[in-house]
Amino acid sequence: MASISEVAEAQRAFWNGEASDSWIREQEQRDRALAPLGELAMARLPLDAGGRVLDIGTGCGDTGLALAARVGADGVVLGVDISEPMLARAEERRRAAGLAQLRFAPGDAATARFPEAPFDAVFSRFGVMFFAEPVAAFRNIRAALRPGGALAFVCWRPVAENPWVAVPREVVLRHVTPPPQAPDAPGQFSFADRRRVAGILAEAGFTDVRFESHDREFAITTSPDLDAAVDAVMLRGPAGRFLRDADEAMLAKVRADMAPAIAPLIGDAGLVLGCGVWVVSAANPD
Ligand SMILES: C[S@@+](CC[C@H](N)C(=O)[O-])C[C@H]1O[C@@H](n2cnc3c(N)ncnc32)[C@H](O)[C@@H]1O
Repeated sequence: MASISEVAEAQRAFWNGEASDSWIREQEQRDRALAPLGELAMARLPLDAGGRVLDIGTGCGDTGLALAARVGADGVVLGVDISEPMLARAEERRRAAGLAQLRFAPGDAATARFPEAPFDAVFSRFGVMFFAEPVAAFRNIRAALRPGGALAFVCWRPVAENPWVAVPREVVLRHVTPPPQAPDAPGQFSFADRRRVAGILAEAGFTDVRFESHDREFAITTSPDLDAAVDAVMLRGPAGRFLRDADEAMLAKVRADMAPAIAPLIGDAGLVLGCGVWVVSAANPD
């Protein structure tokens, strides 16, 4: 079994390598699709003018920019991430927007000390499912909140409740058998089980833990182009990971099966499938 530091190192390598390439390349498209989901969690936070906010796993910085706009010039927003290339994109965007109240910094939210702490609020859009030791990580995050401060994040519900992943995944699984993975291993769906997440947050000392379930549409592409849709679904999520080591012949077979599976789902607006998320909120007790 991999040690805690090996798991953390694997995540660091993943988010600085293959994952960052596609997140940077597809930044605008992903932000368009993810922004409404992030806003569901922002709505659970007191983002008043002058507030201090920590954005965990800010990636290419979309949510850091949005939070900085909400708290205004007198506020403070720190966006942390383990991915240096994604943070470089975030910093370009920050400079272009001229937001002095926003800082992007490399750091592992599980262990980092944050100079801007204590925060009034901690936010994350799909950035808290990758910790090797989630209880210890959320203890560290709670320590950065002021007493009475608020936490809110959005994470995916199970694959079966996320057709944008389940549909392409089913096609890929006809061709490849991925290595077994424990459901609670760090990864995109590791927070799908609300009882597990509630347990992690309670053990980390959070109170008032609440879950809201939301179903939304998720735009994978924005044009009716079938080839672009096949490319997009084969790159993303578990499907992309399962195909990481596939050779050209295997990729051609998967593409040949993928096209008829998704073609009927493509409309004028592109490939838009359902997604299901948890919006999780909690408090740091006074
Ligand atoms: C699914 S992406 C989401 C990115 C961004 N929040 C968004 O919605 O566009 C997950 C992000 O979490 C970051 N991440 C993963 N583990 C982390 C950790 N331990 N500390 C800080 N960031 C982490 C990754 O580098 C990546 O940028």
